[in-house]
Amino acid sequence: AKMNKRYRLGYHIMAPANWINDPNGLIQFKGEYHAFYQHHPYDENWGPMHWGHVKSKDLVHWEHCPIALAPGDACDLDGCFSGSAVDNNGELTLIYTGHHYIDQPNNIFFQNQNVAVSTDGIHFTKLGQNPVIAEPPTDSSQHFRDPKVWKHEDTWYMILGNSTKEDLPRVILYTSPDLRTWTYHGVLLQGDKNMGFMWECPDFFELNGKHIFMFSPQGIDAQGDKYNNLFQTGYYVGEYNYDSNEYKHGEFIELDNGHDFYAVQTFLDDQGRRIAIGWMDMWESGMPTKADGWSGALTIPRVITLGANNKLLMNPVEEMKLLRQSEHVLYQYRAISGSYLTEVEADLLEVKVVFDLTKSSADLVGLKLRGTGEEETVITYSIAGQKLMLDCSNSGKKTDGVRQTALSAEGQLTLHVYLDRSSIEIFANEGQATMTSRIYPSEKLLGIELVAERGEALVNELTYWKLKDIWQ
Ligand code: FRU
Repeated sequence: AKMNKRYRLGYHIMAPANWINDPNGLIQFKGEYHAFYQHHPYDENWGPMHWGHVKSKDLVHWEHCPIALAPGDACDLDGCFSGSAVDNNGELTLIYTGHHYIDQPNNIFFQNQNVAVSTDGIHFTKLGQNPVIAEPPTDSSQHFRDPKVWKHEDTWYMILGNSTKEDLPRVILYTSPDLRTWTYHGVLLQGDKNMGFMWECPDFFELNGKHIFMFSPQGIDAQGDKYNNLFQTGYYVGEYNYDSNEYKHGEFIELDNGHDFYAVQTFLDDQGRRIAIGWMDMWESGMPTKADGWSGALTIPRVITLGANNKLLMNPVEEMKLLRQSEHVLYQYRAISGSYLTEVEADLLEVKVVFDLTKSSADLVGLKLRGTGEEETVITYSIAGQKLMLDCSNSGKKTDGVRQTALSAEGQLTLHVYLDRSSIEIFANEGQATMTSRIYPSEKLLGIELVAERGEALVNELTYWKLKDIWQ
C-alpha cells in the first residue's frame, strides 16, 4: 500500500516505514555521524526488534542505511534490544541486548548482552562468542538490558538497566579489557520504590568535571507538574569515584517536560560536544500515523551543557541552521496586546520570539501555532507564575493536555521553536526548559499567532525560518 505522507516529518530521523522506538548506538565514526534505532521493519507496531540505521556528515542531512542488526540468532532469538556503540580502533562495535521469551503471553523472558562489529560502519557481524554476558547477577530480576559502554583509561565500562528480585531499580556495572570478556563490578546505583521499578536506557558521562547519570525510569508517580508521563527521562548530576565505584548525586531532574520524549542517549563528538537524541514518542503516546503505515521518530540532535545550579541545558545543534531556507523578520520592538496572526506558508518551520518582560504588563505571553481557535497548539509563559506551558489539548488527531514547568525568566523570555509536520520542540531561554511533543493537525494549519493576555507585551523580535525537507 502507498504510504499516506500527511504527517511524515521533514527533518527528523524516521525509518523508511513502520515502527521505531529508542535511539541506539549514537556515535561519530570515521568522520560520519551514525544513529541506530529500535525498529520493526515489517509492522507499524512494536515487535521483534531490529536495529535500523541512518548516517550523516553534518547531523541534519541523514541517509538510510541497511538494517544493522536483525534478531533470530541463538544469542538474540526474539529481539535485538537497545544498546550503544563504540569505536574500537577503527572497528565500529555495537553492544546490545538479546531478548528471549520464556513465556511470551505472560511477558516472562531472559536477556543477555551481545556484540556485533563492522569495519565499514554499514555491515555488521555478530561475534561467534555471543552472548558476551549470558546472565545477570544472581540477585537480579529478569530486567537486564540497554548496555551503555565507554572507555576510561584502558578499561571498557558498561552500565546496564536492571532491578533486584524485589523490583528495586538499579544500574549495574561491568568492566572489560577488550569488549569481549566482561567482569561484574557491582551496583553503581540503586533507587527506592519512588524511583520506579526499572531504569531503562542508562547513560553515564562526564560534563565539566561532573558525572551525569541519565536514565529512563519506569513508573515514577506524578507530583504536580513533575513526572506527568507514564515513564520519564531525567538525570542526576554528581561525582563518581572510579576507584571505589561510589556515585554521589543530587536530585532527579526531568530532562524534557513535553508529552513525547523518552529513552534519550548521548554521545561525544570530535568537537567535544555532548549531543543527545531522544525517542520523540513514549510508550503511552497516541500514534495516529499507524493508520498511515508508520510510527515513531527521533528528536533533533541537541547539545547538552551544564548550567547554573547543576541543571542541564539542552539546545539544538548549530548545524540545524543548515536547514534554513529563508529568514523572515516579522516584528522588532513592537508592543502587542491580544493576539496577532501571521499566515506562514510552510509546514517545516523554526520560530524565535523574544519578549522583553520588564516592559510587559501582560499576565501571559506566548505563541499559538498550527491554527487558531478550533485547533491550535499553544505555548504560554505566565510572568507572575514563572511557568512555561504547552497546551496540546487541541492539537489535532491526538489530544494531550497541558504540560507545564517552572522557568524563572528574569527580564527576557526567548522561545525557540521547531515545528515539523507532526511535532513541536520548544527550547526556552537557551535551553533552561525544553518541551517536546507530537501534534497531528487535521489539516494544513500554518498560522503563527503572538499572544499577550490581560495587558501589553513588548516583542523584541519575532523571526521565522522556513526549513528544508531532507527526505525529499
Ligand atoms: C525502552 C525499551 C528498552 C528496550 C527497548 C525495546 O523504550 O523498553 O528498555 O531495550 O525499549 O524495544
